Amino acid sequence: MDDFTPIEDFVSPGLPVDPANTTGREALGDPQGVPELSDVDCPDALRETIEASMARYPDHKSASIPALWAVQRTYGWCTPEGIRQAAAVMQVTPAYLESVASFYDLFRLQPSGESQVLVCTNISCWMRGGDELLDAFCAATGADRGEAGHGGALSADGSVMVSGFECLGACDLAPMASVNERYFGPLEPADAKTAIEQLRGGEEVLPDKALTARRLPGGDEESSDERVTSTKGPNR
Ligand code: FES
Repeated sequence: MDDFTPIEDFVSPGLPVDPANTTGREALGDPQGVPELSDVDCPDALRETIEASMARYPDHKSASIPALWAVQRTYGWCTPEGIRQAAAVMQVTPAYLESVASFYDLFRLQPSGESQVLVCTNISCWMRGGDELLDAFCAATGADRGEAGHGGALSADGSVMVSGFECLGACDLAPMASVNERYFGPLEPADAKTAIEQLRGGEEVLPDKALTARRLPGGDEESSDERVTSTKGPNR
């Protein structure tokens, strides 16, 4: 037990420490320790991406989320070896990065197909047909609807993961979905079949409904958004 550091050492100076919560408790070390870069086979592109992210922050741990995105984009999911490689570049323990990855739903800790479809079923999207949209994506892929609504399900051929998801922060597109990190909406159930066919055919997915095709915030107002002009606010 001499190897362990008292938990008080991890509490910021000046903050009150409740003895009831800390007395007798000890911070557990990571048995894997910090891997050496020479001990992992980290692809150069992954290492360079992580190093560029680290250079943007005064505390290199702040690059944990960009580093995990880089791992996920490299391997399709946050593989144990990918996390070890990122940990070696960042000189943190793999357990530290795993704890970050397991906290956020958008990081995948198991294989999840070549493409991922996240269908928002939170309140704004649900009220505008989010459940029906998830039904349609499951029908288009053959993914199990029950599993898709509770953590995600792979398509029948294993190439596409479909998952119901909490608010993706694009409620004005309701009902919306993300396909391989790009946002689309408002969507009709019929769009699901089209999107999956385009995805499988290597075509651009729903170009007319992609968020990137929309006017950027603060950009020129080319035409009025009907959803805004039709709003009956107190000043209209
Ligand atoms: S409720 Fe669907 S994006 Fe916010």
